[in-house]
Amino acid sequence: MDKVVVITGANSGIGYAAAKIYESKGYFVVLGCRNEEKGIATEKEIGKNSKFIKLDMTDYESIDNFYNNLTNNFKNIDIFYSNAGIMYVPFSKTKEGLESTLATNYFGSTYLTLMMLDLMKNVVNSRIVQISSIAMYFIKEMRYERLEDESIYSPWTWYNYSNLYRTMFSFELDKKITNFETDVVVAHPGVTRSRLYRRSNPSLSYKIIDKFKTNVSTGVAPVIEASTTAELKKERVYAPKIIHQYGKPSTYKANKLAYNLQERETLWNYTLDKIGMKDIL
Ligand SMILES: NC(=O)c1ccc[n+]([C@@H]2O[C@H](COP(=O)([O-])OP(=O)(O)OC[C@H]3O[C@@H](n4cnc5c(N)ncnc54)[C@H](OP(=O)(O)O)[C@@H]3O)[C@@H](O)[C@H]2O)c1
Repeated sequence: MDKVVVITGANSGIGYAAAKIYESKGYFVVLGCRNEEKGIATEKEIGKNSKFIKLDMTDYESIDNFYNNLTNNFKNIDIFYSNAGIMYVPFSKTKEGLESTLATNYFGSTYLTLMMLDLMKNVVNSRIVQISSIAMYFIKEMRYERLEDESIYSPWTWYNYSNLYRTMFSFELDKKITNFETDVVVAHPGVTRSRLYRRSNPSLSYKIIDKFKTNVSTGVAPVIEASTTAELKKERVYAPKIIHQYGKPSTYKANKLAYNLQERETLWNYTLDKIGMKDIL
């Protein structure tokens, strides 16, 4: 059987580009997409070595169904690329009562990641790649419950937190599963032209950022590197080499909060409590 890679948010941007690359490298590619029409179209485009399974990261029932479908079809997973994400959305809550940006980018992603371990922990050289963003570097202090307060909601700041949390949790998870065959690694694409920016405010700073965006092939390269390199660098972030933005993949230190073990442990407990997985490891 081919090696299997699972990608969330695989119908667009970086996830779609990654799906094409893995397929060309001989992997069987599972496409997790929330929109059925787009998922079916993507499966057609990627070809017979791919399978679309419906997945909405804001809905635990949908994540459970996705995972059950995976276990019915695959014994082992080699790569899990946790990619689905949103940015700059108006405040809203999911049916579990979580703010949408954090629910999609962080809580849903973490819930699925922890379940995936059962399909990966005995697979030699298996890898979980968590997407993050240069936005994580803007955060200077942890907030936890304060991010539940609608009256102080700011779409950019919440996005920044979701990416810092993705990074911190991944480093902590990797540390906690040294007895598993699976490594957990973080990659970010730089600022890449994609549909992610479709809701952004066309302010002057946005127009300036727009000029510096790279294409998806530069943005996806660190993800592929992080998931396939034989010389994995622990607790580093894979990103484009020149100022996190241009050129081939390299690695960087994360936001310094990601190396604060006490904050990581607090985030770990806070998160498991929120997603109802307290005793998972
Ligand atoms: N582009 C950048 O500059 C940049 C920089 C740093 C980090 N990132 C991260 O990279 C990841 C991919 O972004 P992109 O640039 O490729 O943007 P994109 O083209 O908008 O792709 C995002 C993907 O996530 C999916 N998605 C969104 N909400 C979902 C949900 N609730 N359940 C399942 N899937 C969902 C989208 O599905 P639909 O098509 O149905 O909306 C789409 O397939 C994101 O996590 C983003 O935060 C991007």
